[in-house]
Amino acid sequence: MPQSKDTVKEFDFNAKDFERVRGLIYKRAGISLADSKQEMVYSRLARRLRATGISSFVKYLDDLEAGRLGDEWEAFTNALTTNLTSFFREAHHFPLLAEHVKKLSGPITIWCSAASTGEEPYSIAMTVCEAFNTLTPPVTIIATDIDTNVLAAGANGVYTLDRLDKMAPERARRFFQKGKGEREGMVRVRPELRQMITFKQLNLLADSWPISGQFDVIFCRNVMIYFDKATQRKILARFVPLMKPDALLFAGHSENFLYVSESLKLRGKTVYELDHGAGQKATSHR
Ligand SMILES: C[S@@+](CC[C@H](N)C(=O)[O-])C[C@H]1O[C@@H](n2cnc3c(N)ncnc32)[C@H](O)[C@@H]1O
Repeated sequence: MPQSKDTVKEFDFNAKDFERVRGLIYKRAGISLADSKQEMVYSRLARRLRATGISSFVKYLDDLEAGRLGDEWEAFTNALTTNLTSFFREAHHFPLLAEHVKKLSGPITIWCSAASTGEEPYSIAMTVCEAFNTLTPPVTIIATDIDTNVLAAGANGVYTLDRLDKMAPERARRFFQKGKGEREGMVRVRPELRQMITFKQLNLLADSWPISGQFDVIFCRNVMIYFDKATQRKILARFVPLMKPDALLFAGHSENFLYVSESLKLRGKTVYELDHGAGQKATSHR
């Protein structure tokens, strides 16, 4: 039956509840939810009320905040993230990545900082395998996300076959194994690719990040759009010391970091590098 706007909801959810959720997810993950997201928030969190057996939003949020729901903060956060991604999304980035890694010597480290269900770090892995023409290139990839569900899916590396629809058949054959029998219609990323990547939880908003060293490449695509300018600024300032002098930072198509960080300059379409003259420019303008 078609649902009308007046359909009675299973749980009461008003503007005040929405504001409360908005405040909590902003504080926890930096995510700024627009006014238009009220329905989305209702449907995603209604599942958490059912799962916890709680019959009202007020009680659910009270219990959550009081720490009476165990690991529920994790499930609350996982429910409110948007994980849309695909293999070779924003495809123009990958030839640039290949060109860049081919110029580097020694072990190469890449951080994919909003990895979602793994399509992005696996696209990076495929690109570097092709660049070095081997399934074991001198590259390690750290794939992080705040959402523990998507990280588990990424580490598993199993996808429905249709996720490869837009991929060149030769690439699909080289990097994926087709499921048979019960697994018909599924594919799994080859073990060599999975071994290149370590999936771990990292909240870009957290005071400390469980990563160290400097990276040759950082991917931070389609996550900053959820953050306000002040949060973006803080995160970019923390990226800068994690970048090797010639490192590249890849951003999403609608994310412009030029107005957010003075330390970066544009290398290509939404690809940034360190601006080594930035300090001098700032001093000479004083
Ligand atoms: C839209 S997806 C983008 C995935 C991928 N980078 C891409 O461009 O296809 C955004 C991802 O950012 C993650 N995310 C949201 N807030 C985060 C935070 N505070 N720290 C780390 N990851 C976060 C979400 O869980 C989600 O998987």
